[in-house]
Amino acid sequence: MNDTQTMIGIKVYYFDRIDSTNEYAKSLINMVPEGTVILADQQTRGKGRHGRTWYSPADGIWMSVILRPQNVSLITVAAGVAVCETLRTVGVVPGMKWPNDIILKRKKIGGILTENVDESTIVGIGINLNMRQFPRGLKNVASSVFIETKKRLEKEMVYGILCTQLDDCYSLLKTGQTSELLTKWRHYSIMLGREVYIEAGDKKVTGRVLDISNDGALMLMCPDRRVERIIGGACHLTS
Ligand code: BTN
Repeated sequence: MNDTQTMIGIKVYYFDRIDSTNEYAKSLINMVPEGTVILADQQTRGKGRHGRTWYSPADGIWMSVILRPQNVSLITVAAGVAVCETLRTVGVVPGMKWPNDIILKRKKIGGILTENVDESTIVGIGINLNMRQFPRGLKNVASSVFIETKKRLEKEMVYGILCTQLDDCYSLLKTGQTSELLTKWRHYSIMLGREVYIEAGDKKVTGRVLDISNDGALMLMCPDRRVERIIGGACHLTS
């Protein structure tokens, strides 16, 4: 192993309970080394994308990693691949929905929230691991590894594997091996060839997913045969 593969978790801030690991990461962003992890058993104000709250009781993995990448465009892809590889290692095979959802049996069991602050990037990772139930408003769309597989995975073990996988995926990014990373993304993607509806601010686009580009954009074939490049937004599968 070289230095680039053993950096995640170089310093760890652990909390029984915190508002949001991403918010705590912001408070120490310029004072800690790259690879610092903020890990919590529970979050009281976990944050999801698009200003949503993220349900974060005990029994999940809630963590943020502080990184300083040269190029931020594939960071969310790298983190998503690391989560999928981690779960595969313990016998669970999830899928990825662009840009940040981890899916198991059609339900969301994890997500990535990437925030750029100054020269740093905070990669927030949530994995619904051992929860047995979800609030009424969530249970049609969200689930946990336990609910879907009846496997109760030890949190510390999954966290350890995840740090190793994050090191590996981040190392691929830093050494310019992005095609290897994108190949892994394609392997886990549940989107290739599917029809989608994307909402990006005022813009609404429908189309069939062709691929992911070298910088993490989603490539769509629109009904009028134009190829559209989507760099962000909320994505809904319609086929
Ligand atoms: C999403 O899919 O909307 C992103 C969810 C990200 C949740 C994680 S849990 C750890 C970190 N801290 C937060 O407040 N959010 C992220």
